[in-house]
Amino acid sequence: MSGDAQRVERASEMLRSKLGAETTTALILGSGLGGLADHVADAITIPYRAIPGFPPSSIPGHAARFVAGTLGAKKVIVASGRYHLYEGHSLDTVALPTRVLHACGVRTLFVSNAAGGINRTLRAGDLMIIEDHLNLMSGTPLAGPPREGESRFPDMSAPYDASLIRELREAALECGIAIKSGVYAALVGPAYETPAEIRMLDKLGADAVGMSTVPEVLAARALGMRVAGVSCITNVAAGLSSTPLSHAEVLETTSRVAASFEKLVTAFVRRIG
Ligand code: HPA
Repeated sequence: MSGDAQRVERASEMLRSKLGAETTTALILGSGLGGLADHVADAITIPYRAIPGFPPSSIPGHAARFVAGTLGAKKVIVASGRYHLYEGHSLDTVALPTRVLHACGVRTLFVSNAAGGINRTLRAGDLMIIEDHLNLMSGTPLAGPPREGESRFPDMSAPYDASLIRELREAALECGIAIKSGVYAALVGPAYETPAEIRMLDKLGADAVGMSTVPEVLAARALGMRVAGVSCITNVAAGLSSTPLSHAEVLETTSRVAASFEKLVTAFVRRIG
């Protein structure tokens, strides 16, 4: 067993001992979207720093903890905060929470992120269902010797589950939220893109751009998990407005949209049962 597989095993043993019963649905929350964790009832909180093999994470807007409990009367594990390549973490570390969640019984994974809007119809504050993605991170957590339980050549023709996408649309309708949908492109960051890069991404078919999510989705798909995702469009991408981009703007928009996001995800969780 590889060193990383052992790390996954040790961490999931610890998490399972704290959580007790298996939970089949997990939510990974992106920058500024972690407030949903506060709506989890009967919550058990486990900070990442208390889990063996989980390195410290220090991004403003990321709480870095698992919160397990009930949301919309359904049992969930919320991963509030994630690891990013731009922090200098390896792809194995970025995928670690996903692999640990799978080892704890999770089979449905909801992912979310903050993203810049490339498609001209997207505005700051929009929520976008991720229908597909472009991996422009020059790497994958699936490289290396085959891992037990992971497909060597996972099919990626439908990375985001069609029935979960339908449930997200229904949940949005139910909540009166006008939801968009599109393709998410993942770059390493941490610099925001140049206007020329945004024109390139537009030509490649990206509707939104961010610095996360795709490694987790790759690991989840290789493990056979069903995946759904939502991007919170926090800003229009570089070159599409005259305002310079900043992390403060990202957090300002996510806090403005947090209530709708939380309503949508709670309705979605309730629907998928
Ligand atoms: N680019 C990349 N990542 C982002 C952006 C952006 O414009 N906004 C929020 N995360």
